[in-house]
Amino acid sequence: MSLTNQRPAAGFFARDRGWQPEALTPQYKTSVARSPSRALLTMPQTLSEVTGPVFGHNMLGPLDNDLTLNFAKPGESAIGPRIIVYGRVLDEAGRGVPNALVEFWQANAGGRYRHKKESYIAPLDPNFGGCGRCITAEDGSYEFRSILPGPYPWPNRGNDWRPAHIHFSIFGQGFAQRLITQMYFEGDPLIWKCPIVDVVPHREGIESLIAALDMESTVPMDARAYKFDIVLRGRRSTLFENRLEGN
Ligand SMILES: [Fe+2]
Repeated sequence: MSLTNQRPAAGFFARDRGWQPEALTPQYKTSVARSPSRALLTMPQTLSEVTGPVFGHNMLGPLDNDLTLNFAKPGESAIGPRIIVYGRVLDEAGRGVPNALVEFWQANAGGRYRHKKESYIAPLDPNFGGCGRCITAEDGSYEFRSILPGPYPWPNRGNDWRPAHIHFSIFGQGFAQRLITQMYFEGDPLIWKCPIVDVVPHREGIESLIAALDMESTVPMDARAYKFDIVLRGRRSTLFENRLEGN
C-alpha cells in the first residue's frame, strides 16, 4: 500500500536517495558484487529509448492475468491458496497511469520457481508456470489472479528465508522506462527477518511494499484479495530494485 493520500495534488518531487536503500548492503551478500564501485554516470537517452515499442492490449493472451490457469492443463488449476492481486499504478501526484505493462512472476505454493537454475527441493506444480502480465486501464488499475507463493530458503547467511513475495516489472512508454520491485503480504512474519527487506532504510518504505488483505474485494468461496498500489515517482514512491544501480 502506498502513501498517495499524504501527497499534495501537484508539484515537483525531487528524487530522495535517502528513501531508497544503499546499493552496497553487505548483509545482503549479492549486493556486494552488484553495487557500483565507481562514481555514477548519466547515460544520454536516444530517441529509440524514449519512444521505443508501444504496448497494446492486443499483445495479451486471454489468460495472461490468471496464473491459476495460464500454465494449467484444461480443466485443472494451480495448487495453492487462491488470491486476487489488484491495485493502481500511480504517478507522483496520485493520478492513475494508463497503458503501463505490468508483469509479475513468483514461486509456486511450495516456494519453488519454474527455472533451470532453481535448486530448492520443493516440488514443481505441473499446473503452475509462475508468470503473467496485464496492462493498466485508463485509471491506472490492474488486477490478476494467482496462488499465494510459498517462502523459500536462500544461501545468504546459511538459514535465510524469503517472505512470500511477487516480483513486479512496470514498463512505461519505452524500454528505458522499466521499474522492478517486489510485493509482500500483510501479516507475514518473515518480512521482518529478511536481509533483503532489511536494506530498506525506513519502516514506512517497507510498508509501501506490503499488500493489504482486502476482505471487501475477496470473492467468497473463491479467492482472497490483496491490494497493492505502485507509485512511480515522488517523495514516497514505491521502492524499485533497479534504481539501486544508479538509474
Ligand atoms: Fe523471488
